[in-house]
Amino acid sequence: MKEIFKNVKEKLVSKYTNNNSSENTKKIKNRIKARFRKNKQIISKNIDNFFDWIKGAEIVELSECNTNEDPVRPELDNKFRTSYGRKIYGVKFKGEIHAVMCFAFTNEIPKTVEELDLMSKDAFIQSIRRDYQVGKIAIAYTVWSKKKGGGKLIVKEVYKLIKKSNHLNRLITLSPLTEMARRFHLSNGAIQIQVNETTQNFEYEKV
Ligand SMILES: CC(C)(COP(=O)(O)OP(=O)(O)OC[C@H]1O[C@@H](n2cnc3c(N)ncnc32)[C@H](O)[C@@H]1OP(=O)(O)O)[C@@H](O)C(=O)NCCC(=O)NCCS
Repeated sequence: MKEIFKNVKEKLVSKYTNNNSSENTKKIKNRIKARFRKNKQIISKNIDNFFDWIKGAEIVELSECNTNEDPVRPELDNKFRTSYGRKIYGVKFKGEIHAVMCFAFTNEIPKTVEELDLMSKDAFIQSIRRDYQVGKIAIAYTVWSKKKGGGKLIVKEVYKLIKKSNHLNRLITLSPLTEMARRFHLSNGAIQIQVNETTQNFEYEKV
């Protein structure tokens, strides 16, 4: 948002200073200020409208997702995503799914999908012998959004679900080594806990 306003200001300064070289500086400055205030109001209103859909969206648990749409781990099929207590959550708005986040439950932090698979199988087997509550750590191994704001919303809402549960005590990601993933999780309040050979882990302590 700050970046948008900075660009607007720069454009106004260049427009008014180029075309009005004969006007005195104070007059130009006042015109820029007035114009900037007006543009800022219009931009803020448009951004509010842009995210309005979020108010009508809900988080739902899904029995499957369209894995071809997953930009992070399209190779994982729905069987993988729903076996051993694993879960798929979606952001539903007007009957359509706009964002998806997939979870596995473990007792350790995986550095690869292979480790994630083994660790969540292990936690699942232990849970059968114990209390049917699989793993203490929720690992988000993919998230994607087709509508702006959906990714942020799903992180926030799933975090609330995890806080409410009585057996999960950590929310950690198994993220690709991309700048997008890094910026996305850091901007949502996560901390980077580990950078691995092919992945990175972030932890949500508060959202
Ligand atoms: C990352 C993603 C889920 C974010 O979706 P979103 O919350 O709905 O919303 P936004 O597009 O507003 O992005 C939120 C933040 O993510 C980061 N981000 C998004 N796209 C980015 C890009 N192309 N490059 C770098 N950072 C990016 C930014 O920090 C952005 O905040 P900003 O707009 O204030 O800079 C979505 O862009 C997506 O589906 N990406 C592809 C899959 C992916 O990489 N998932 C994350 C790793 S598991």
